[in-house]
Amino acid sequence: MTRILITGVNGQIGSELSERLGGLVGPENIVGLDLRPATPPYLIAHETVDITCKEAVRQVIEKYEVDTVYHMASLLSARGEMNPDQTWEVNMTGLKNILDLARGRNIKIFWPSSIAVFGPNSPKENTPQNTILDPNTMYGITKRAGELLCQYYFDKFHVDVRSVRYPGIISYKTEPGGGTTDYAVEIFYEAIRNKVYTCFVGPETRLPMMYMDDAVRAAVEIMQAEWDKVKIRTSYNLTAMSFTAEELANEIRENITEFTCNYAPDFRQEIANSWPQQIDDSRARNDWGWQHSYDLASITTEMLARLQEKLDTGTS
Ligand SMILES: NC(=O)c1ccc[n+]([C@@H]2O[C@H](COP(=O)([O-])OP(=O)(O)OC[C@H]3O[C@@H](n4cnc5c(N)ncnc54)[C@H](O)[C@@H]3O)[C@@H](O)[C@H]2O)c1
Repeated sequence: MTRILITGVNGQIGSELSERLGGLVGPENIVGLDLRPATPPYLIAHETVDITCKEAVRQVIEKYEVDTVYHMASLLSARGEMNPDQTWEVNMTGLKNILDLARGRNIKIFWPSSIAVFGPNSPKENTPQNTILDPNTMYGITKRAGELLCQYYFDKFHVDVRSVRYPGIISYKTEPGGGTTDYAVEIFYEAIRNKVYTCFVGPETRLPMMYMDDAVRAAVEIMQAEWDKVKIRTSYNLTAMSFTAEELANEIRENITEFTCNYAPDFRQEIANSWPQQIDDSRARNDWGWQHSYDLASITTEMLARLQEKLDTGTS
């Protein structure tokens, strides 16, 4: 039986991953780790540990005889620009600790990269898997360096590490943790609560996006794929759809006619401008069969319905 460790388990993706994996292998086989204490369901144990402390992480891995790690602990793009030193430390030392601890222990790793690996000189449309990668945020730099580190540990030490470059992730269960695409989640909360939202990027800003169900399924599916199907050991381009902030607002207005969206771009506009508008994920589709399920219309109806339920029951 497998024993899975999810780092960053309290976060937007980690919390939903624990639910999905708990359903697959049983909560008794899922251990969570995060800097912040919590008692989430779907876990046998939650360890409050700093991912940069290798000895503490080693103790968790050995205590629970972990054989699989979903390494989600990270600082994201917008928060990262406010504290670049800490972002380097958490994202790079954290990943290297996990890779080092996997060496010789036969531990399989999922680690997400991001569209933040692309930069101002990367093609914006149909961005290929292999192209100019010149990130200009500390977050993007750690993701690109992390991808190369994964490739290195795979080549030199045979660590079975698998990765996807997530686009912006839209979800309703756990609020996002400080990324540039957070507007695509906040807009739904404000549409329901106040019927008005002031968006921190301009109306023409187009970015690749994905619904959480698809994001979690991608992580599980790349981990379940046959070893030789995973041909890219840096990180796979992955996407579901692309839309502008204005197209999102218009789609919400189809459901909530009184909704208005204002635009007041801040420092996150510059980060968004440096990222692709739409990426080519054909390698993920061809190599291990990636297929997305949700588009803009289905995300919008799902988000509005689920968030309304959540706000009605006071669980927000
Ligand atoms: N959410 C997105 O839109 C998105 C897009 C692309 C990639 N990703 C990647 O997916 C992963 C998970 O993202 P998320 O959205 O769930 O992030 P999040 O900010 O919601 O969660 C990250 C979690 O990591 C924890 N953490 C931070 N520092 C830590 C430390 N020193 N030790 C232990 N835990 C620590 C935080 O407490 C938090 O619970 C990250 O690698 C992120 O870069 C996310």
